[in-house]
Amino acid sequence: ESHDIEEYYNIAEELVLKAGKIIENAIDSYKNVQCKGIEWDLVTEYDRKIEDILQTQLSEIYPKHKFIGEETTAENKCLPKLTDDPTWIIDPIDGTTNFIHQFPHTCISVALVIRKKIEIGIVYNPLMKQFFSAKRQKGAFLNGRPIKTSKIANLSDSLIAMEPWIAKNSNYLVSVYSRMHALIQGTHGIRSLGTAALTLCYVAMGAIEAYHVESIEVWDVAAGKLIIEEAGGTVIDTAGGELDLITPRIIAACNHSIAEQLIQLFKTIVKYFKQKY
Ligand code: IPD
Repeated sequence: ESHDIEEYYNIAEELVLKAGKIIENAIDSYKNVQCKGIEWDLVTEYDRKIEDILQTQLSEIYPKHKFIGEETTAENKCLPKLTDDPTWIIDPIDGTTNFIHQFPHTCISVALVIRKKIEIGIVYNPLMKQFFSAKRQKGAFLNGRPIKTSKIANLSDSLIAMEPWIAKNSNYLVSVYSRMHALIQGTHGIRSLGTAALTLCYVAMGAIEAYHVESIEVWDVAAGKLIIEEAGGTVIDTAGGELDLITPRIIAACNHSIAEQLIQLFKTIVKYFKQKY
């Protein structure tokens, strides 16, 4: 079966731009906030609305395509299996907590995966008018202009993003605090945006050198991974090696050298912390 990636992309771009209006119109209005099981995993009626619209419209045009969406998965309590069929991976609002607080870093993330390869990645922050996009082997773009990752080669000259909130789960306490300690000592600084998809795009555009996060999901990563790779960067597993897209633990970096330095730093710091505390 042949696939017209250009056509898929054009349709997705139009739908995502339209859905962005929902975020724009809702950002400063009342939101019905609910918890999805654990107290810090929040959802609003807008997350569901955007996912419904994207899934309904895409499946009207492409009835054979499959979907893996954040809110549908939460409702069904079951992550669909990734097959070789064309599959749209959707995070309707990535950075829901930001959206609720009117912190303007929030986005829609949509990826198309065919035969387990990410063919299209779109990440759109309608509040800051940042439309990131990539098609496999066709480069990465911000609002239609090509983007490239940072050329910095030393971790000590880098700005790194991390997500400390994950330490709410005690399994991550030592790794998160020890890694933050190492980054505070060994880099220009740490930033934390609260939206994985958009933070990956900040690596892609060269605004930060790397991003590290664990305990996230396929819809947080799929689009951003392609955008980084097409911009010249790399997204790998925290321990090194290939990323498992379905249970991602990520080091996303502007180049292999920075990724390697982060892996080594994380290995040594956890040993050091365990001996000391
Ligand atoms: C969240 C954000 C956050 C990441 C969380 C995600 P959501 O997405 O991407 O950066 O650390 O794991 O759940 O829930 O706002 O779509």
